[in-house]
Parts: sequence; C-alpha cells; structure tokens
Amino acid sequence: MTGIRVAGAMAPGRVQLIGCGPGSADLLTLRAARLIAEADVLVVDRLVGDSVLAHARADAIVIPVGKEAGGPSTSQDDINRILVREALKGQVVARLKGGDGFVFGRAAEEIAAVRAAGIEVEIVPGITAAHACAASIALPLTLRESVRQFSLVTGATADGEIDLDWTALAAPHQAFAIYMGVRTARTLRQKLLAAGALPSMPVVVVENGTRDNERAVATTLADLTDAIRAFGIGGPAIIFGNLAWSEANLTMPDKVHVYRASPDQSSERTLSVSAPDTL
Ligand SMILES: C[S@@+](CC[C@H](N)C(=O)[O-])C[C@H]1O[C@@H](n2cnc3c(N)ncnc32)[C@H](O)[C@@H]1O
Repeated sequence: MTGIRVAGAMAPGRVQLIGCGPGSADLLTLRAARLIAEADVLVVDRLVGDSVLAHARADAIVIPVGKEAGGPSTSQDDINRILVREALKGQVVARLKGGDGFVFGRAAEEIAAVRAAGIEVEIVPGITAAHACAASIALPLTLRESVRQFSLVTGATADGEIDLDWTALAAPHQAFAIYMGVRTARTLRQKLLAAGALPSMPVVVVENGTRDNERAVATTLADLTDAIRAFGIGGPAIIFGNLAWSEANLTMPDKVHVYRASPDQSSERTLSVSAPDTL
C-alpha cells in the first residue's frame, strides 16, 4: 500500500484510468503496463483479459466490475463508489477498461466522480476496438479520395432507442464502425436501408478482434443479420460499414469469411469461406 499518512489521516491515493486495448497481450501500451504494475488495486472491466492482469503485482487487489449487455453487472454508481472508496484509503487504483476509456467507455462519469472527491485522475489512452479490428483484417478506415469521413457509433443505448443520424451514415463515401451492434443488427440494418443506404453496401463484422478466437465476416448490408446468425456471432464485435478492400486496391485477407445470400433472396443461403474480394 502506497498511501502517505498526514497528521494522523491517510492522504488520498490516486486513480489511473487505463485503456487496455482490444485484448491481444501485446497491444497494451508501455505506459499502461508500467502503471498496472505499480497499482495497489485494479478495478477491472469484463473485456480486459488475463494477459493484461499478468502485469499486476502479485499482492494487488483485483475487483472485477464487468458489465455484460443483458447480463449481470455492477452499476456505474457502484463502480464510481469503489474507485473513490479505494483511493480514499490511500491506494493507487488502476481502473482498467477495454480498448480506450474515452470511446464508449463511460470514462466521463468516473472522472467526474473521482475528481468530485478531491482525488487526482490520470488518463492513459488505449487502442480502441475499431482501430484494432481494422488493422487485424488490413481494412483502411479512411481513403484519400473516397472515404473522408469515418464515424464511431454505438448500436446500444441506455433507453433502448437507437438515435443516430441514419441519413448521414447511409450517404455514399461515409464509413462507420458500430460498437455493441450485434444484438441490434436487425434494427440497424432496417434504419440504414430506410435512410437510403444501398442493400449492397459492404459490411464487415469482426468478432473478438486481435484475440486468439478472432473471426471476421464480409457481407452486405442486406445480408447483415443473416450473416450474424449463420456464423453465430455473439460479440464482442465491430460492424464496419461502407469500407471495402477493393476500394483501397487491396485484397481481402484469407482469414476473412464471406457471407452472401443466394441471388434470388430465397431461404437458401450461400456460405462461402475465404472467397475472392469483390465486396
Ligand atoms: C462498452 S464498449 C467498450 C469499447 C472500448 N472502450 C473500446 O474503445 O474499444 C464494448 C464494445 O466494444 C467492442 N469491442 C471491444 N473489444 C472488442 C474486440 N476485441 N473485438 C471486437 N469488438 C470489440 C464491441 O462492440 C463491444 O460490444
């Protein structure tokens, strides 16, 4: 324990909000690894893997606070309380988040709660899932001539209503990555088509990006939900829209599967693996 006693009272410790990347052991920054090794207490998200925790001291206290969509979870208020409580004991608290804490990571609430208690917060960026997944399948997120806007959006919201600028996302030359979109893929598909997106819009789903069990499926917007069902994708996954290897003069990596509905849109589906890149 590293807290300093001042006039009989324990001086507050501090909180480090650390982005731990997408899961691959060597996509953790050097700064993150150093701070994790120094921490007394680790408050850990569900998507942070054992390879990250391997950097922690043997005597560090690990508090899991995983939040699972639709499953059991620690409330955000409770997480805030844990951070403040541990830091007020004089502990150095590492708050470990998957990806980057500032991207759909609820970092703002935690920073505000910790600062309101008079405790210092240090913020360490991490590699966000969209960037890691794109790199893993060699799919550029912007292109000098044809993709000048790239959006990070969420497919899940607190109240269940997905409120996005569908017209902007559906427009040509707009690329996007949808976080937390697997469970709501049917709605996302419907909204985008209703806003004018072409059924043939290229879509790529990357599940467990950069981890040993990574899977990627290239399909079209029309076939998105069927592809998710056919491959049994449950997440965590990123859904990329309007990005294509062919547009970038690149070839699709062999590890990417291709899903296409049969041309007549009948119930018979064509499931092909590692087909040529024509998306
Ligand atoms: C609560 S958000 C946290 C995002 C995180 N802060 C980040 O920057 O990547 C959780 C979502 O991130 C995405 N995600 C996180 N890790 C992933 C991975 N390794 N592969 C694919 N998607 C991932 C999924 O969409 C998942 O549902």
